[in-house]
Amino acid sequence: MSRIGILGGTFNPIHRGHIAMAKAAMEKMHLDEVWLLPSGTPPHKEVEDEISSFDRYTMCELAVKKEEHILVKDFEQRCLLPNYSYKTLAYLSKKYPNHQFFFIIGDDSLRYFHEWVHPELIVKHADIIVINRKKLENNIPSGAISGDKSLQEAMDIVVRRVPGHYTIVEMEPMDISSSEIRSLIKKHCETEYLCPEVYSYILEHHLYEEKYKMPDIRPIMLDIKANVKTSRYLHILGVMDTAANLAMRYSYPVEMARLAGLLHDCTKHLDAEEQIKFCKKRNIEVTEGERISPQLLHSKTGAVYASEKYGIHNPEILHAVRVHTTGCENMSLLDKIIFISDYIEPSRDKAPRLKEIRAVSYQDLDLAMAMILSDTIQYLKDNDKSMDIGTLKTYEYFKEILIRGGQDLTLL
Ligand SMILES: [Fe+2]
Ligand SMILES: [Fe+2]
Repeated sequence: MSRIGILGGTFNPIHRGHIAMAKAAMEKMHLDEVWLLPSGTPPHKEVEDEISSFDRYTMCELAVKKEEHILVKDFEQRCLLPNYSYKTLAYLSKKYPNHQFFFIIGDDSLRYFHEWVHPELIVKHADIIVINRKKLENNIPSGAISGDKSLQEAMDIVVRRVPGHYTIVEMEPMDISSSEIRSLIKKHCETEYLCPEVYSYILEHHLYEEKYKMPDIRPIMLDIKANVKTSRYLHILGVMDTAANLAMRYSYPVEMARLAGLLHDCTKHLDAEEQIKFCKKRNIEVTEGERISPQLLHSKTGAVYASEKYGIHNPEILHAVRVHTTGCENMSLLDKIIFISDYIEPSRDKAPRLKEIRAVSYQDLDLAMAMILSDTIQYLKDNDKSMDIGTLKTYEYFKEILIRGGQDLTLL
């Protein structure tokens, strides 16, 4: 019979204190394994800083990569409803009848363990390991046994109320909590309490960064819908959906791509005069090409408008909006997703080679960019329309990428 420790929590984010708890329990109680069970994200109950269950789970996996016998399990991830420990333990003991389970909690949790939902069912399926971290949480819930009582005294009280097997395991004090770590991350301070892989993941995915928090997009959708013509709104919805699809294809955050798609034409309702006026008022530079074709300005004005009117400050989204008409050198993944989605979204039907470009977009973004730019330039030439120098430069940039990659240019 294997002895399995269960350590649940939001792990927002996981830190060395969690790993130390798992190790202390494993060592002192001779456990074969400790399973970390990051909680799922129940609807209507967001975890602090809206970190998704996927990100919290991934951070746990990174943190235990080099740890032997500490595993991350997704039992609670798969449960969309608020999951209570007694349910998880009942499920585990049924699923693994040959395992003996040990439920690991901190000393602070023990002091209100009797207030949990069905603690009597938790102790029915598992022995309780209380890790004495010698650290009391600041916000002790009502009903908790006061910190004036020693842990042993508190445990005696809990045992009388919820009879079961409890063991206190001592641990080296580690004066850190996830909330303290979150505030350090927000101040861009790396902390030794996070494993480097977890910290890199946080930076790469902009977790805990205020400006990357996703807003509720419904009011923005309603506002844009009220401002633009129906056909324009349908185009915007098409760009949102296409951007979401490409984001899935190229592993980009889907919600960010949708929001950028929604915002990309948010000032398209302003006429030429209004576009120029908008720029003048805010000292936005207007190039010669933009003076000749002021409608090109809606990308620049759109980025500013999105920030002023809708409070969007996410730099990746604003940049994608800003460059969606002409593109630019060194475009980011999101820039390309929005530029391409604008061209291929389902309600578009005029451009030549749409079918091919749509297919290429899901295989090679740079080739799709070059094809779109090439066709746009050709169209402008054929129809004697003025061309912004930015479009030409972007085309040359992507052509160069294809040449360097030894790609065949016959599609251009
Ligand atoms: Fe546009
Ligand atoms: Fe558009």
